Amino acid sequence: MTERTKTTLTMLFNKVAEGTPITWLTCYDYPTAYLQEEAGLDMILVGDSLGMTMLGYETTLPVTMEDMIRHTQAVRRGAPNVFLVGDMPYMSYQPSVELAIRNAGRFMAEAGCDAIKLEGGVEMADRIRGIVNSGIPAMGHLGLTPQSISALGGFKVQGKGALQAKKIMDSAKALEKAGAFMILLEMVPDRVCKLITERVENCIIMSLGSGPHAHGQLLIYHDMFGLYPRFKPRMAKVFGNAGEVILNGLKDYVIEVTEKSFPQPENWFGMKDEEYEELLAMLD
Ligand code: KIV
Repeated sequence: MTERTKTTLTMLFNKVAEGTPITWLTCYDYPTAYLQEEAGLDMILVGDSLGMTMLGYETTLPVTMEDMIRHTQAVRRGAPNVFLVGDMPYMSYQPSVELAIRNAGRFMAEAGCDAIKLEGGVEMADRIRGIVNSGIPAMGHLGLTPQSISALGGFKVQGKGALQAKKIMDSAKALEKAGAFMILLEMVPDRVCKLITERVENCIIMSLGSGPHAHGQLLIYHDMFGLYPRFKPRMAKVFGNAGEVILNGLKDYVIEVTEKSFPQPENWFGMKDEEYEELLAMLD
């Protein structure tokens, strides 16, 4: 494990002040968390996107608090120093402020998170306020919010029209007022993201497919390495095709076992002749 100091909220705000973009990825398991910590990521999001990327659901809606806690614990074991954000799953915060506080507390106490994220703007500002007042750093998520996919009519850019963009801006202001330390803008036009970054002064603004003007960038890990078979969003750059590498390895394994070229002596364990002879004698 690399020697690195633990990333704190203060360090994130210092990066913003210096004009250095914050690096952030999703992650759902121990070995990937280990690699992300080694690579020097500032932040990890254990997103409820794990419902799609890891569990194979069509949407994020079936994901439970138990799913989230289990995966977040594994990620924390792999990345002890990264700033870790737990993503509150569907219906873990929408019903009431009290439920939101209780479940946010579980991410902190049971999974070692540094902060939580929830989706929604003006209508969820009281949840953010309640969580922040309980001493838990909380961030909002605006634009394309996958838990509302049915109401939004699918995975599409949000805020293309002036009226809708104004609503996103109003929500960002409401989250800022409620005490959110950070806001993620997913799939909003770059100019809307720029305006929000300039005008919402007390929050760090992060972009997922919302352009270069935010204080940092987030990508879905599975999209950047060709690991999600159903689709690749336009905003996701493929930094390496691990999916292809793994598929080729799997095909080679099938071929080598079938044609008996695997295993080779270096892949198995032997036994001394005298021990083997003694064994045979015992069996006679
Ligand atoms: O669950 C997740 O990974 C997310 C991202 C889409 C931002 O919320």
